[in-house]
This record gives sequence, C-alpha cells and structure tokens, in this order.
Amino acid sequence: MKKSVILGVSSSISLYKACEIVRLLQKRDLQVQVIMTPNAGKLISPRLFQALTGREVFLDMFADASVERVAHIDLAREAALFLVAPATANVIGKFAAGIADDFLTTFYLAATCPVVIAPAMNENMYLHGQTQENIDKLKSRGARFVLPGRGRLACGDEGWGRLAPPEEIVEATLEALSRTSSLKGQRVLVTAGPTREAVDPVRYFTNRSSGRMGYALAEEAVSRGAEVFLVSGPVSLPVPVKQNHVRRIDTAAEMETAVLELAGEVDIVIMAAAVAGFRPARAEENKIKKTGADLKLSLVRTPDILAALGRRARGPILVGFAAETGRIEDNARAKLQDKNLDMVVANDVSRPDVGFGSDFNRVFVITRNGRSFQTEKMSKREISRVIFNEIEGIIAREKSPPTP
Ligand SMILES: Cc1cc2nc3c(=O)[nH]c(=O)nc-3n(C[C@H](O)[C@H](O)[C@H](O)COP(=O)(O)O)c2cc1C
Repeated sequence: MKKSVILGVSSSISLYKACEIVRLLQKRDLQVQVIMTPNAGKLISPRLFQALTGREVFLDMFADASVERVAHIDLAREAALFLVAPATANVIGKFAAGIADDFLTTFYLAATCPVVIAPAMNENMYLHGQTQENIDKLKSRGARFVLPGRGRLACGDEGWGRLAPPEEIVEATLEALSRTSSLKGQRVLVTAGPTREAVDPVRYFTNRSSGRMGYALAEEAVSRGAEVFLVSGPVSLPVPVKQNHVRRIDTAAEMETAVLELAGEVDIVIMAAAVAGFRPARAEENKIKKTGADLKLSLVRTPDILAALGRRARGPILVGFAAETGRIEDNARAKLQDKNLDMVVANDVSRPDVGFGSDFNRVFVITRNGRSFQTEKMSKREISRVIFNEIEGIIAREKSPPTP
C-alpha cells in the first residue's frame, strides 16, 4: 500500500508551486491528499488539486454531512506525514498557538505523524520576531522546517521568504519519511527526570531535572518506529503521544530495579535521567521535628546504574548524559571511559538559558569510536534528532563487516 502524504496548502502566492510538489511526490510512489485553507481556495480552485491527485480536497470543516466519519480524524489515522507547503505566517502562528479554526489547522492538532513545514512570505513577515518565535516553538515540538531562501518575492521586493524549491521540499519530506521507520524493530529504553530520596515522610532530596530531554528522546525514538520503554522520575510533563511503555519511579533504587530489569530486553539504553548520587542514610519513619539544634544528615551513595550496565559483556548500545558545571569535555571523556559507554552527551547545567528546566540545550557529544562535536543551542527535540542520528551511525557500523 502506498504511503499517504497529507499536503497542506495555505494562501501564499507561491501556492502554484504546490502542484509541482504533488507531481514530485507522486513520482516517488506516494499518495497525496490535499487540504487547503479557505483563503487558499480563494486564490486557486480546489478542483486543480482534485484533478492532480484524483482525490477530494478538504477545505471546509463542515462540508461533510456524513455521520459515520469525521474526516480530519480519519485522515490523521492514515497519514504517514503532514507536509505544509506553502505555509503562510498565519498558519504557522495558528499551529504554534494551537488554534484550530479550519480543516487544515484542526488536522495539525489531530495528526500524530511527522510534520514538515515550508514557509513562504514577504521578508518583513518572515523576519518578524513573532514569526521566528512561532517557528522555534514548532521546531521544539518536533516539526521540521524547509526554510525559505532569498530571492525576488511576489510583492516585488527582493529578500528572504521565497518558498524553497519544490525538489528541496520533496527531498526533506522523503528524508523525514525514511526516518519514520529507521529504528523499526529496535527496542529503546530511555530514562528521564529526577529521582527523589526521602529524608522523612514529608521531605526529600531531588534535583532540577524537568524530564524534558528524556521525554523528547522518547518521542523521537517513537517517531522513528522504535518500541520505547520510558522510565520516568517524578515530572509534570504529559506522557508523550503514542508512547509505548511508561514506568514511573521515585527513587534511585527503584530506577535501578526498573532499568536492570529492562536492559536485557532492549537494544539501546539512553540514561537521560538525573539520578541522585546520594541519598539520606535512612529515611525516618516519622517527620523529623524542629528543635533548637541544627540537624546533621548522613548521606550515602546510591547505586551507579550506568556503571552496572557498562560492565555487561554484550549489553545494549549505551548512551549516558553528563550534567557538568565546568571542564565539560574532560569530564565527559572520563565518564565515557569509566562507565564503558558508547556515547556520552554532556551539557553545561550552570548556564541559565539551556539545560535543566529549559526547552533548549547545547551539548557536547563524544562517541567511543572517536567522534566528538558540540551542537548549537537547539530545542531538546532537535538535540534528540542529533543523538539518534549518531546512534543510527553506531548501529550501521556494527552491522557493516570490518574492513580488512
Ligand atoms: C495575493 C496574495 C498573496 C499572499 N501571499 C502570502 C504569502 O506568501 N505568505 C503569507 O504568509 N501570506 C500571504 N498572503 C496573506 C495571507 O493570504 C493572509 O495572511 C491570510 O489571512 C492567510 O490565510 P491562511 O493562512 O488561512 O491561508 C497573501 C495574500 C494575497 C491576497
């Protein structure tokens, strides 16, 4: 059965190029279903796309009187990918704000497939802070952008905002589609969030981890077709859509039990959780009462889960995170060696704009086979993509025969 690409068309003057995009996608053996905004329908007749695709074009939310089907939900089920080209500033803003007031914007919220967006607009609209903020927000939610180029615009100006060439948009679509199954058959364990170590029934030690990095990794693994086990400390994040298995834990010891239980069954382990290194030597049964005196607590080491995994002879691919506040590269290299990891991802948690609690991160990646690089500041979802691309590189190298 052909894979179905849903093509969203909004009212940019460049929408005539969407016809070429339909043709190119069809040439790649993809089925194309067009959704237009009502404004796009004022610029060009939906019949044109109907003729090109041989399928009804969706434009009016309330046109379908059928009681058995709710078209946008049915379509969301069959969609392998949602491509929006051209995307107006308006559509991008509505996606970012969660506004669903026509078929296309409602479909965006209903769809769980990968999303690729190709904006087209006047340069001032494109460079406007609000548009850039909206693009960043959608990127952090996992949407891929095929950014516009510079050139002569429909308004007569020269500048940024010109729709990327149809060939480039189709290439990005095919690349995103190939990613939807690149980890098919792989089982991935991701840990996320902090742990809590009880002092007494009302107090505990914890740390600033929000769980966002681990959840973004789990979402990326799901979107690449992996079966994902997410072991999560206490966080206030919604469980990612289509998440396969979620296990909630509180303490480092519970994390250890869950991870060691699952580690033998998975191909990849990514330890993104900030597991407490120490816990109170004992958790008091009753609340410790305030007295005039200071309180001295004795702390003991918690289990080193990563090191335990690294000692396994034929274990899964092992990726560790290092939260550092100085000498990041040196400390990360030491961790890679000490714990026998395949890859370490280090971040500087002393910076207020990235890392703990932020939607963004900037990381240093070092792999066992000698690759090392630093990323730009990116959304955690984009960082996840970089990490999984590296992991896929490791898998490919493991599969390829050694060179003589
Ligand atoms: C001829 C014409 C061309 C337009 N081209 C663009 C464009 O390239 N990009 C854009 O963001 N808006 C463009 N607009 C403005 C949008 O059509 C307008 O913001 C509209 O409300 C967007 O509706 P939609 O996003 O639901 O399609 C254009 C309008 C007209 C009349």
